[in-house]
Amino acid sequence: MKILVVGSGGREHALCWAIQRSPLCEALFCAPGNPGIAQVAECLPVAVDDIDGIVAAAKAKGVGLVVVGPEGPLVAGLTDALAAAGIPAFGPSAAAARLEGSKGFMKDFCARHGIPTAAYARFTDAEAAKAYIRAQGAPIVVKADGLAAGKGVVVCPNEADALAAVDTIMTERAFGAAGGEVVIEEFLQGEEASFFALCDGTTAVAFGAAQDHKRVGDGDTGPNTGGMGAYAPAPVVTPEIVDEVMAKIVAPTVAGMAAEGHPFTGVLFAGLMIGPQGPRLIEFNVRFGDPECQVLMSRLKSDLVPLLLAAAEGRLGTAEPEWFDAAALVVVMAAKGYPGTPLKGTEIRNLAAADAVPEAVVFHAGTRADADGRILADGGRVLGVAARGRTVAEARERAYTAVDRIDWPEGFCRRDIAWRALER
Ligand code: AMP
Ligand code: GLY
Repeated sequence: MKILVVGSGGREHALCWAIQRSPLCEALFCAPGNPGIAQVAECLPVAVDDIDGIVAAAKAKGVGLVVVGPEGPLVAGLTDALAAAGIPAFGPSAAAARLEGSKGFMKDFCARHGIPTAAYARFTDAEAAKAYIRAQGAPIVVKADGLAAGKGVVVCPNEADALAAVDTIMTERAFGAAGGEVVIEEFLQGEEASFFALCDGTTAVAFGAAQDHKRVGDGDTGPNTGGMGAYAPAPVVTPEIVDEVMAKIVAPTVAGMAAEGHPFTGVLFAGLMIGPQGPRLIEFNVRFGDPECQVLMSRLKSDLVPLLLAAAEGRLGTAEPEWFDAAALVVVMAAKGYPGTPLKGTEIRNLAAADAVPEAVVFHAGTRADADGRILADGGRVLGVAARGRTVAEARERAYTAVDRIDWPEGFCRRDIAWRALER
């Protein structure tokens, strides 16, 4: 079968890396891909938001499965357009992608179906939002309703911050149209984890868990990012927690979406807060996490392709993914300036030496190649250096050994990925 992956980040590199190992994969394409992905797939010059272009490319190449990486094209209706063209796709319809695309939709959905999540209220009026904040007090969480590239959430330790966040989101429109509405939420306490389930519209199968590090600095300090590193398995997600999350969060979501006429297909990513009252849902994403996907793919022993295809075609049944009995860890290398304005165009050397570290693999996230084939930084998060080991400590040792072989003075990374797991 010919397969097309849509996206250009570390998540899509990891998906391509896993898919090309499959004996079922005859040819692999990626739109638009990146220089790392080009080592395992043929990159097509089509942007992720060019829905017509992607459908046309999939037809032209005779693709039998499209795997959509990022949320943007899902929310914009890419899988709907592919379905209309008769091309199977892994990823939800636009209507089902609202679980990520609208926080208000997601919160109301959870309320309708009794899914445990933070208490909340929705506002389209800034003054009403502020009155609610004054009544509730702090700590409290203010969120832009729409997609804001992971930046539309402000966790506010005090009331003044929360009132200011309403202005930033609603009045100054710092996140654009995403700020037409805000969701204000109860602050949840506990340990965070990223939980994944493959869904085929009616059935869901647990697909691993990971923990990521959102803050830019060591010791979980500094501003939030898309994720500076991750590891799996997540020690906090015990087998009991897996059962509880499947029963109380994932199963009612899949059943509820189907009952409401928008069956969910693809991967459901539940961002969890695991505290004294058990797991509670922080948010849903309708795609793999980035960088969580890199560690999931490193640990996956099963062939990924039949799983994706079964989800896309509504026949997951009792599929049971198998994992290597190993830990995996990924260290994100970012360009100086990230998460503000990253320095672009600096050269990265010695990637092959890093890849040569046993059990390590370098995923490209934000790179481009120049005319001479040199690899240049071309984004905020630039590389994901992943490794496997018998333990988290061994995986971490290998990942940092690979990191240290990379010659890129203008890049930086956290040196403490998985500190929580190692302290246990
Ligand atoms: P999100 O983009 O919704 O994942 O939010 C980004 C981060 O904000 C999460 O990973 C949490 O660390 C934090 N967060 C979001 N909502 C809450 C909440 N209700 N209580 C505590 N922390 C939260
Ligand atoms: N690493 C978190 C995310 O992908 O949203």
